Amino acid sequence: MGLPQSRPDLISLAAGFTDNAVLPSDLIREAFEGLRREDPGLGYLQYGSTHGRPLLRELCLSHLAACPGERLDDLTAEQVLITNGSQQALYLATQSLCDPGDLVLVEDPTYFVYLSLLQSLQVRAVGMPTDADGGVDREALSGILSGLKQEGVLHRVKAVYLMGYYSNPSSRCLSLEAKRGVAEVLQLHDCRAAVIEDAAYRDLHHGNSHGVPSVLSMPCFDGFPRLYLGTFTKPLATGLKVGYAVSTDRKWLEKLLFIKGNQDFGTAHFNQAIVEWILANGRYLPLLAGLSRHYGAKATLLDQVLEHSGIRAAGWHWQKPDGGLLFWLRGPEDCSTAMGASLARACLDRGVVYVPGHFCFASAAPDHFIRLSIGAACADKLNLAASRFCEAVLSQ
Ligand SMILES: Cc1ncc(COP(=O)(O)O)c(C=O)c1O
Repeated sequence: MGLPQSRPDLISLAAGFTDNAVLPSDLIREAFEGLRREDPGLGYLQYGSTHGRPLLRELCLSHLAACPGERLDDLTAEQVLITNGSQQALYLATQSLCDPGDLVLVEDPTYFVYLSLLQSLQVRAVGMPTDADGGVDREALSGILSGLKQEGVLHRVKAVYLMGYYSNPSSRCLSLEAKRGVAEVLQLHDCRAAVIEDAAYRDLHHGNSHGVPSVLSMPCFDGFPRLYLGTFTKPLATGLKVGYAVSTDRKWLEKLLFIKGNQDFGTAHFNQAIVEWILANGRYLPLLAGLSRHYGAKATLLDQVLEHSGIRAAGWHWQKPDGGLLFWLRGPEDCSTAMGASLARACLDRGVVYVPGHFCFASAAPDHFIRLSIGAACADKLNLAASRFCEAVLSQ
């Protein structure tokens, strides 16, 4: 939902931006000064390599290995690729795997930009229904795979796209059982598609990190080529656009490197060097602790405004997220949240915009969900926008 230029009063709870108040400009200046001191040859202002800075790749792997439950002893920094955020990694991964007409399994709901990416590659997204806890519904997935087999297209399923940590849009995490369930059902149907785990929000928990390891560390996924995607955009600065991909499969990695080489021969070297300096100097984790408090407080604020407004009694449901930047609200079934519908107009009249939930579904597209972001708006604006939103809901 675009923001009309003529409406400066509008507050967007739609945009996936982070909060300017916590962008670490002093830290980035310090990192730049550190680089100037430590690399007088100015290497960081030259081209780098397609693969990415070796030390940064090592630091990414160490950071990941330190997350709860991870066992990554078999992986080396050679298997890490530095990317222009996880968005580029998603594109490289999908392009390297899929031809037009191929299929990718996605959670329903999922990251709507990935749905658009699939569409651009003429790849069909097949939604895996999720259950009440947000886990993938095993029986439904099994039924879908049987259906694809009957259609004669099971062999065209090239990838499974999972978001194990504070998913976009639902902000729920996948449990160990949910992930294991996906692996088991795929195996049962002899489907050995590549598994892409997008962990864009993993570092942005609001207190305690989700204790479940990634698919890289889960033995039940051993027979699957896997790619784990991390990013420093949301936690550090979206403007730096530095992310990383970790692959268990060397041939797949070679393909990613080949495509990336042709696209840009390497993520901006300067930006990589800044992120590397911050990680190498132990400055990333303290930054995350601050973000955790900041976004945790904003999540509490939005939750309280929604809660006190009375919209629950009007049939709206949500869970306060434990991490990430997003609230996922389910309205009454007869309340359309689509852009032209009465609720969207009531919101626009009051000066607030949201993401209609139906964008996020691959298969069935129910239109009574809404995604709200706590990212960009400062606390006062978030408070105001949430009140406007609730007023619009109660006006229906
Ligand atoms: C789930 C998910 N994956 C990937 C991305 C892309 O992030 P970036 O390219 O900034 O790392 C986003 C951005 O909003 C996202 O929400």
